[in-house]
Amino acid sequence: MGEKTLPFPYKIEEMKPEEDELINTDFGMPVKYVRLGPKGFIVFKNYMQDAANIYNMPLRPTDVFVATYQRSGTTLSQELVWLVANDLNYEKAAEIPLTHRYPFLEGFMFFDEVILQRVCDDMMKTDENFNREKFLEMSSFLAKPVTPLLAAASMNIPRFIKTHLPMSLLPPKILDTAKTVYVARDPRDVAVSCYHQARLFKMRSFQGEFKDFWKLFVKDLYTLTPFFEHVKDAWEKRDDPNMLFLFYEDLSKDLPASIRRVADFFGKQLNEEQMNRLCDHLSIENFKNNTSVNFEDLRDSGVLANDETFIRKGKSGGWRDYFDYEMTQQAERWIEDNLRDTDLRFPHLKH
Ligand code: A3P
Repeated sequence: MGEKTLPFPYKIEEMKPEEDELINTDFGMPVKYVRLGPKGFIVFKNYMQDAANIYNMPLRPTDVFVATYQRSGTTLSQELVWLVANDLNYEKAAEIPLTHRYPFLEGFMFFDEVILQRVCDDMMKTDENFNREKFLEMSSFLAKPVTPLLAAASMNIPRFIKTHLPMSLLPPKILDTAKTVYVARDPRDVAVSCYHQARLFKMRSFQGEFKDFWKLFVKDLYTLTPFFEHVKDAWEKRDDPNMLFLFYEDLSKDLPASIRRVADFFGKQLNEEQMNRLCDHLSIENFKNNTSVNFEDLRDSGVLANDETFIRKGKSGGWRDYFDYEMTQQAERWIEDNLRDTDLRFPHLKH
């Protein structure tokens, strides 16, 4: 008997040749995307190997998803959520890296085999300290879909799951069973942060200027865009008791208030001392040195560029240093256009 095919409702569309050309002009590594469904979310083509398993994944009432458009404060929110939900167990948080506490649902798609081989070949040629064994060990771990691992996880321990997928690519009834914390951020800061990340990871090796990156982002030609559709997918569900919708700008401006919302969501209470310690733990300065969250363990394996780090500035409004007048105007129009048919509003923006 053949395996049962799981339902996956979305049409898969190839990118247009002119889109492929635009995308591949500035990336050091070849990128092969497809678009999914009516909103046209862009995923790496190899996402399709697990797309239906993700869409149909069996859920548990103890599951916790932290979902974001990438670079919107995922890491900060993951650590915050995990600590609140796990009664502030700092020892365990230090002992088990965040990447192990939170399987990354679609993380495998970023580690395409062909690209990894190219990175490996390049590194062999250019870096005499390159540790091929370590690289291969790390990449074979990251390139595997995590749905089998999640299915096999002990029933006694809550599963914490990181994802940058929009809600419509997750199981449609997710909120009937599992809790989701979604974090949104000003798309201009997201774009700047994604640009740096696309330079950080050698699997992407973005070689253009920010202006080139912005063009891709705003034309919905970057991973998991369209940005606004992503945010709106979650915003529509914000009133569900199993959804907590946060903004990075609120986390940034008043961390204790956001912590209180997370604590309420998980039915926990924090006293003043606990609150102070958690705020301190979550500060960007501490995160930079916290090896459990800062991804610096990947550096030894050679996949990170020397002049970039995963935990970066952690500021709201830093985009102003990257946008010229014309880009600023374009971004304002783009934001306005995308907010016209929705009541989604970013708290830091005057509308
Ligand atoms: P910048 O590149 O603007 O500095 P994600 O975790 O979703 O990839 O998001 C990364 C962004 O969150 C980066 O933004 C990063 O510096 C910022 N960040 C990470 N840890 C943070 C913290 N503890 N406080 C504030 N911002 C943080």
